[in-house]
Amino acid sequence: MLEFLFRRCATAILPQEAKKMIAAIQPAFVATASKNGKPNVSPKGSFRVLDDEHVAFAEIASPGTIANLKENPQVEVIVFDPATWGGCRIRGKAEIIESGDLFESFKSQFAPLKMKVHSAIKIAVEDVAIMPPMKTG
Ligand SMILES: Cc1cc2nc3c(=O)[nH]c(=O)nc-3n(C[C@H](O)[C@H](O)[C@H](O)COP(=O)(O)O)c2cc1C
Repeated sequence: MLEFLFRRCATAILPQEAKKMIAAIQPAFVATASKNGKPNVSPKGSFRVLDDEHVAFAEIASPGTIANLKENPQVEVIVFDPATWGGCRIRGKAEIIESGDLFESFKSQFAPLKMKVHSAIKIAVEDVAIMPPMKTG
């Protein structure tokens, strides 16, 4: 493995480096697949860290992502800064949540923008890889 390009952490715990990248870089690109392997990837500006083992985003307008998640909860997410070529990749298992604190928190966040949140997608992190920055921004 070329460590300077892609450092696999092989851990379900988000390193501090990854948390900082997720907070600083938007949107994240969320990839899903149907049960037959039909892929879907799209940007999610609401993507955020919940705690050391979970990330999440708001479902506002994500029909392709949700259709796939209903068949297959596995996701892979790329957080990438084109200015530095740094970022991280997160693999995990998603859960569609339609009530509770996380859902209410996303609803309040997007209500002032007149955006309706249909659900919160909570992802239990299974694997993290860091792409160290390769150029100055
Ligand atoms: C920069 C950007 C950020 C976005 N962020 C979100 C988001 O956080 N949640 C969401 O549901 N849709 C978001 N969208 C919209 C979906 O990604 C967009 O409707 C997409 O084409 C369809 O989503 P799908 O691939 O999941 O069906 C965003 C779109 C853009 C261009």
